[in-house]
Parts: sequence; structure tokens; C-alpha cells
Amino acid sequence: MEKRHVGFDLTIYEGEQSLPPGDRELLSKAREATSGAYAPYSGFRVGAALLLESGEVVIGSNQENASFPSGLCAERVAVFQKGARFPEGVIEVLAVVALSPGKHLKIPAAPCGNCRQSLLEYEHRQESPIRILLQADNGSVYECPSVSALLPLGFDQSYLNSRY
Ligand code: THU
Repeated sequence: MEKRHVGFDLTIYEGEQSLPPGDRELLSKAREATSGAYAPYSGFRVGAALLLESGEVVIGSNQENASFPSGLCAERVAVFQKGARFPEGVIEVLAVVALSPGKHLKIPAAPCGNCRQSLLEYEHRQESPIRILLQADNGSVYECPSVSALLPLGFDQSYLNSRY
């Protein structure tokens, strides 16, 4: 029998003042992106911003649908847009800001399981970690070192036939 630790060290900033200016700027782009959210059903507005190695920033916001499963989260809107516009672009950082109606989130909203899986594909494809910044309404920020840290024992192409 063997026990293995598969967790990660989460870095928590009480406010964004202690973050480097580039990270603060990316978080403000994610906050701005919430204005593009289409969330008439949940009222939960989420904005995501990806910083590429080239300096390009790609944003996304959640897009809901009367047929609920047909909508998409902000993180996937952003990462799929990145894939389509900058297929070779390397993502350095993902920033996410979520605004919940009528309540101030003290804990940052973290990407859902489906988004983690989608993001993992891009992290593996570029062979370098995507740092993740998540901000709550009170300004506090969670920093995660990579997508794989958020999805321990994640499923990836290595399990599939070698022709992939
Ligand atoms: N949502 C996101 O966009 N990102 C997340 O990380 C969590 C949830 C969206 C999906 C849906 O439009 C709304 O928030 C409520 O779940």
C-alpha cells in the first residue's frame, strides 16, 4: 500500500495590492469582460482573460442558453477563442472574476470541472503551465500554479491510442 499526495499549495492574497501590476491589469480585464456576459438565467456574471506569451489578451464571458446545457462558461469561451485565433499562442496566465447577483463573494469562484478539463488540453498542448488567478468581490485573490494542479489525476491524451 502506498499513499501519494496529489494536492497543491494555493497562494492567497487578501487584496490585489500585493500582486504585480501585470496581474492586476489582467484581473481588471477579466472584470471588464463580465460586462459581455449573457446570464439572464443565473444572473451570475463571469469574466475571463488570458494573457499570451506574445502579450495578446483574449477575453471571454459566460454565455447562457434557454436550453441550459447549451450555454458555456467564461473560461471555455476564452480558451476556445484563443485556440481559434492564436492556435500556436502560449497562455501564461488565466484571470477569472465572477459577480454573483445580490451577494458579495468573499471566496473567489473557481473554474468548473468541465472548464478544468478543457483548459488542461491547452496546458498539455503548449507543454508549459498556465498560472490561474481567481478574484472575489472583496478583492482577495487565489493563485494556482497550473491547471493540472486544479485537476489532479486528470484524463489526458496519454490514455488514448498512440496515433493521437
Ligand atoms: N460559470 C462560469 O462562467 N465559470 C465558472 O467557473 C463557473 C460558472 C457560469 C456558467 C453559468 O452561466 C453561470 O456561471 C452559473 O453557473
